[in-house]
Amino acid sequence: MKKSTMKAVVCPRYGAPEVLLIKEVDKPIPRSDEVCIKVHATAVTASDIYIRGSQLPIRTLIPMRIFIGVTKPRKSIIGLVLSGEIVAIGKEINRFQPGDQVYGITGFGLGAYAEFKCMKETDSTFGCLSLKPANITHEESTYIAYGGLLALQSIEKSNIEKGQKVLIYGASGTSGTIAVQLAKHLGAEVTGVCSTTNLELVKSLGADKVIDYTDKNSANLVERYDLVLDAVGKAKSSTLKNMCKNALSPLGKYISIDDDRLENSSKRLVKLKELTESGYIKPILDKIYPLENIIEAHEYVGKGHKKGGVAITILHT
Ligand SMILES: NC(=O)c1ccc[n+]([C@@H]2O[C@H](COP(=O)([O-])OP(=O)(O)OC[C@H]3O[C@@H](n4cnc5c(N)ncnc54)[C@H](OP(=O)(O)O)[C@@H]3O)[C@@H](O)[C@H]2O)c1
Repeated sequence: MKKSTMKAVVCPRYGAPEVLLIKEVDKPIPRSDEVCIKVHATAVTASDIYIRGSQLPIRTLIPMRIFIGVTKPRKSIIGLVLSGEIVAIGKEINRFQPGDQVYGITGFGLGAYAEFKCMKETDSTFGCLSLKPANITHEESTYIAYGGLLALQSIEKSNIEKGQKVLIYGASGTSGTIAVQLAKHLGAEVTGVCSTTNLELVKSLGADKVIDYTDKNSANLVERYDLVLDAVGKAKSSTLKNMCKNALSPLGKYISIDDDRLENSSKRLVKLKELTESGYIKPILDKIYPLENIIEAHEYVGKGHKKGGVAITILHT
């Protein structure tokens, strides 16, 4: 009998965006503890760029290569984020049924750049899954899954209280735009730091104040903060970032989005679904590309200046 096939993006070696190839590969069959998801949308995230390009500081690169492959990705189909519909389930599956609209991340299993992806329903290093927010598209859900998980784990760790002063450094990126919205929802007074072109976007998310990190005169806008959350990570910096780090109140905290590994938490996905459906988090998508333009999408995100998320639509023939 002829095997069923599907369209997928494979990454046969580490390198520039051009290493990515669209190929016809075997369609996966779910094991007894797996669901099979018909993927309607995936994303190009900071993580996908690191996985494909491996342009990371050596202290991060070595552990990452141990998990995802030393000389080339062990899982040739890459892609970390997905949103789609469950089309088949293994006999041990309890949480989901065919027809459920789900979103999540695939952890070390990768494989989201494909028409179909099989994964466990339980949280593990191979990802996490929940029903998607019902009021937004699959593309928008990929932004909530990745940016939301990154922002929420840092915000939860910070124990922000109502009325506290919070500064989000990198307020216009995927995790930054959600961190601003989460901090506002918790009643904080939020200052967002971004470049000139993104000031209006960050204000529209509810930030009380904005600071332009490219403006030499912005240093005098820096106040004392109960929390400084670095949402762009340790590799990106500026003179202003160093000032923000030193602008903490006596009991204030500085948290970098890079402090902990991204946790695969379906509990947090459910919380993000509820916050999105209640209107507390609105999705921000910079661009949406078809799967066929994956190289162009990687080139764009690799420049490091996306606003909110970048999604990929997967059309099924
Ligand atoms: N802990 C983990 O396991 C884990 C997992 C994944 C990612 N991460 C970290 O999370 C970071 C953020 O990911 P993300 O997808 O949310 O970010 P992102 O969307 O890639 O961030 C893009 C934003 O960064 C801003 N930016 C670029 N250079 C900047 C600079 N020098 N100073 C201030 N802002 C700057 C850009 O704003 P402008 O255009 O206005 O400059 C842009 O809006 C990653 O870079 C990585 O370090 C951590």
